[in-house]
Amino acid sequence: MLSEKILDFLKKKHGYVSGEELSGHFGITRQALWKHIHELKDAGYEILAVPHLGYQLVSSPDRLLPYEVASGLNTRVIGKKILYFDRVPSTMDAAMESGLKGAAEGTLVLAESQTRGRGRLGRDWVSPKYKGIYLSLILRPKILPSLNPVLTLLAAVSICEAIKIIAGLDAQIKWPNDILMHHKKLGGILTELNAEMDRTSFVVIGIGLNVNNDKKDLITGATSLKEQKKESINRIELLRDLLRQIEKNYIEFQEKGTQAILDKWRAFNITLGRRIKVVSQKMHLEGEAVSIDADGGLLVRKDSGLIEKVISGDIIHCR
Ligand code: BTN
Repeated sequence: MLSEKILDFLKKKHGYVSGEELSGHFGITRQALWKHIHELKDAGYEILAVPHLGYQLVSSPDRLLPYEVASGLNTRVIGKKILYFDRVPSTMDAAMESGLKGAAEGTLVLAESQTRGRGRLGRDWVSPKYKGIYLSLILRPKILPSLNPVLTLLAAVSICEAIKIIAGLDAQIKWPNDILMHHKKLGGILTELNAEMDRTSFVVIGIGLNVNNDKKDLITGATSLKEQKKESINRIELLRDLLRQIEKNYIEFQEKGTQAILDKWRAFNITLGRRIKVVSQKMHLEGEAVSIDADGGLLVRKDSGLIEKVISGDIIHCR
């Protein structure tokens, strides 16, 4: 798109660029240039236009615009195609729909806000506008369906890695997929499948992350990176890094198997070694979380000494 090329040009030059230079460079009339500059301004870019001096880019909007996310992303698969919504009921539904229509592996559905964002176990995911990262990623992994849960662990690890790189904070994972800081919820992952008996057609990994939420935008028990870091975080940089980490871990997982992901997950987790309670419709169980196995299931040693495996549900850390 020409507007994006003009934007690139303005980004590279740090001062004013004359209208003559711009229109000459792109082979367009001054009027056409003006139209593109207006398009960029409408998208939220602050561009000064001063007679005799020309144009200068002053600031870029705090929006997860596909062009901004893609710029310098350098991934091979993840986020190569981006569907962007200012507001959507849930990125999960939009991604499911795209997946059914054959969207390529790595297609990313992004939203600035969700009106019906959902979490696990039928909960809501509060998604205030321009505050967080709300995404769903379509993957078409060539793995045994029994290994699908590892993708959730992979996403959790990638989130913690990206948070460390961009914000310098140490987030932790509570099994299976809660991202916490100081025992408050920072983010979560919801994985949904489109599968037949023995074949997964595609997986949608939904990630919700509280980034620049202020206290008033957070429900009880939740926190945000801004609240933890005491300063705003650049959502675009964080998102780009998250996509890069997901790609790195995903390639490694497909080429070498689960070991590396499980090891990294163990390093970030705060569940293993604790006494926990599993509360779900199907089971009520208490014991020590001793390990996760190769498919991401949690192994719990009951007081009787018997080991039981939990594959889904919610857990409570007792101490
Ligand atoms: C959880 O912790 O319960 C999982 C939360 C997942 C929320 C994300 S936000 C983007 C995507 N769209 C949704 O409706 N949910 C997921």
